[in-house]
This record gives sequence, structure tokens and C-alpha cells, in this order.
Amino acid sequence: MQNITTTLKKLFYLWRRSQVPVKQPIKISRIDNLIIFLVCILISIISSYKLLLISPLNIADVFSWFLTFTEILITSGVLILVSKKENPTISSRQIFLIITLLLAVQVTKLALASTISPLSIIIPPALIISQGMGSITALSWVSIASLIWPDPEIVINNNLFFILIVCASIVSLLGGRIRSRAQLLQVSIFVPIGSFLSQWILIGKDKISLINKQDFFLANGDIFSDSLLLAIAMLFTILFIPIFESIFGLLTKARLLELADKEKPLIRRLSLEAPGTFEHTLLICGLAEEATRMIGGDIDLIKTGALYHDIGKLHAPNWFIENQDGLKNPHDELDDPIKSAEVLQAHVDEGLKFARKNRLPKLIANFIPEHQGTLKMGYFFQKAKEKNLEINEYYFRYKGPIPQSKETAILMLADGCEAALRAMNINASDKEALKTISNIIYSRAKDGQLDDSNLSKGEIFLIKRAFLNVWKRIRHRRIQYPSTKNNTFS
Ligand SMILES: [Fe+2]
Ligand SMILES: [Fe+2]
Repeated sequence: MQNITTTLKKLFYLWRRSQVPVKQPIKISRIDNLIIFLVCILISIISSYKLLLISPLNIADVFSWFLTFTEILITSGVLILVSKKENPTISSRQIFLIITLLLAVQVTKLALASTISPLSIIIPPALIISQGMGSITALSWVSIASLIWPDPEIVINNNLFFILIVCASIVSLLGGRIRSRAQLLQVSIFVPIGSFLSQWILIGKDKISLINKQDFFLANGDIFSDSLLLAIAMLFTILFIPIFESIFGLLTKARLLELADKEKPLIRRLSLEAPGTFEHTLLICGLAEEATRMIGGDIDLIKTGALYHDIGKLHAPNWFIENQDGLKNPHDELDDPIKSAEVLQAHVDEGLKFARKNRLPKLIANFIPEHQGTLKMGYFFQKAKEKNLEINEYYFRYKGPIPQSKETAILMLADGCEAALRAMNINASDKEALKTISNIIYSRAKDGQLDDSNLSKGEIFLIKRAFLNVWKRIRHRRIQYPSTKNNTFS
């Protein structure tokens, strides 16, 4: 009996853990929800109203329309749920983009179904969605956009439907992984070529006409013009993706890699005005990247987030020990622990201002407050205690929030371990280094800083091993090679 209770408790614990969201969802306002709902209704009406245009209309027809209408409304809802599941931090603007694209496709189908191939209508939006919201959302969008065909009289060729699904699925899957604009360009060339060849094989060679036609691009059924139109539509989509990124706050892989460029003005400023912070940032990038690789997180996101996490120190670089270079510490002159704590908090507040000014995406800006969480500024808290000041711990804690994702939690742990690992003796053993890492991570976890991050015990173990591996690499680099009198080897 006791065994059963223990097993049930374990199962309940595992179920509860699986229910914890990886990232805290963003709350969507009532007005946004209402607008989204109205657009879904509009999609359902546009996709089903033709069923009511039969005369004479009987109850069975109305019933069949109602079924179709409800089916489309539910599938639109499912699409929103899938996108929320894949992107827990999805904003209302991004949901709006998904359903507006669905609405636009339905309207285009109604207006131009007999003139434009479904390939050119469905594949380009799938590329935008997969780039911005991920492959699963894009695949769901494609399946709904392909199935809700508003006019039942328009029967798509089965082979064309098959090619459409295959091409759109390939674009959706690749779109979520593409890391550069060059790869995007390759997809926009190879997918139309692939669609042309597959249509040529499956639909027929007789459907090609290379002769000048007045309505060359609008000649639905001509597989060459259909494929050319698809290529043009995809190229235009690539041109417009940066605009979608800024309007809808999409964070594509290509955008992440662009932001991670160390020649970006803000990062260049950090390297010139706060060289110590820049060095600290680079080491943290290494620690965080290795740990994220170990647990299977988003490496591009954490690399870019780590690069900008302490950007706020630019407002007063010399107030941070890594930039003092042995010179006077302004905190000693100030001699006021509460004011010093305010300067430390300011590196978060100013960082968020820099993020806003430089239009950093929200997912990157989140690293700025979350890497400090609500950690205690132990050194100044201790100083205040020594001075017997009337102190409230609240003034010596960062304002938070605590890390809301695995990536920001890893960055917090890397931030804590970096200074300790750098300060360690190069002759220290692996065991000592692991002990230092474990102590820092344990103190963060005990303080409740990892509560919202959903990091499991196993993942924390892997993070420790990853940090240790990086430490080993650093130690190896710091071991001096024996010098020779004559250094000319060649
Ligand atoms: Fe910081
Ligand atoms: Fe830092």
C-alpha cells in the first residue's frame, strides 16, 4: 500500500513539474483577445459563407454551414493554442500576425483562387511564421490554411495538393532553423525549382508554356509561371521579413546573429568604455553557451542575451570593479552602502533604457533584469551591517524579476561563477573548481532565484559539468609554456 502511495506521489510530482511553463506567458489584454476572436470569426465567415448561397436553402444546408463555421473557428483557436505552446512568451501582436495572415490567405483564395496557384498563396506566409514563431506553429498554420478552402466548388488537383503540403512543410521545417539571410535566399530558389520539377513529374509536361502570354503570371495551371511566381513571392517575403521583425517584434535566427555581431555600435562602446565588463561578458558567453548546449536550450538566444546583459554598466563603468584596473574605488569615497546599492541596481535600469533606445527585442532585453533576479548585494549589505545602519534587506536586493526561462537562469549562474572561476588558482584541482561552482549554484537555488526557470535537478547537474569543462579550457590557456632563450622557432 505504501509503495502505491509513493508511486502515486512521484507520478503526481512529475505531472506537476511537466505543467510548469518553461517561460512565464505574457498576459494578453481583454481588448486584444476580443480583436483576435473577431478576426477568427471573420475567417470562419469568409471560409464558410458560400455554403449559404445555395437556393433554395433548407435547414440541412444551414446546419452544414454551421458545422463548417464552428469547425473553422475551433481550428483557428487550436492554431493560437499551438503557437502559445511553442512560444510561451508570444505577444498579442504576434498572434495577430498569424491570424491576419490566415485571413489574408482566405481572402486571396476567394478573390484569386482560379488565377493564382495555391503554392504562391500559402508558402510565403509559412516562411514568415516559421522564421518568427517556429516550425510547429508554421506547420499548424499550413495545415489549416490548406484545408479551409472557402469554395467547395474549386477542387484542387490531388497531386498539386500533395506538392503544396510537401513544399510548405519543407519551408516550415527549414524556416525555423535557418541561421542567415543567405540560407533564406537559397530556400527561396530551391523550393520553387523543386515545386516545378515535382509538378512536371506528377502533373504533366504539357502544362508548360514558355510562350509570351498576356496573363503569364496569372495563368493558373501553367507550372512554369506558377513556380516563377512562387520564387518571386518568396524573394519579396525575404525582403519584407526585417519589416515584420520590427513591427511584430519577431526574433528570427538571422536577427539574433546580426545582434550578436561584436561590431555593433553598442558592443563596440562596451569594449572601449568598459573593457573589464566586455571581457567578463565574453567569458560568460563561453560558460553560458556550453551549459545551454548541454541541456539543449537556445544557444543563439543565450549568446546574444549574454552579450547585452551588462550593457547598463556603460552609464558609469568605473563604479564596477572589473573596470577599475587597480585605481581608486569610487564606492570607498562615497562610503554609503545604500547609495552604492542604488548604483548597482542602476546597471539594470540603465540597461533596460539602452535596450529600448537600441530597439533590442524583448527576449534579449529580458536577460538584463533577470540575470540579477532578486539577488542580495551581499558585500554592501554586510558593510551596512558593520556600520550598524537601520537596514532593510529590501534595499540591498535587485528588483528582479527572477529568471523566467532556462536561458536567463543559466546566464545568472554563469554570471555568479565567472568571477569565482577567474579568481581561482591555476593549480586548483577539478574537484575544487566543481565545489566552487556547486556552492554558487546551490546558494542561488536556495535563495529561490531558480524557482520560475523550470530547470530540473538533472539540468543543473549538466550545467555544473559544462562550467567545469569551460574552466578546464581556461586553465589550459593560462598555463604558461616554458620560455626559451631564442624564441625564433621558424
Ligand atoms: Fe549584472
Ligand atoms: Fe555580468
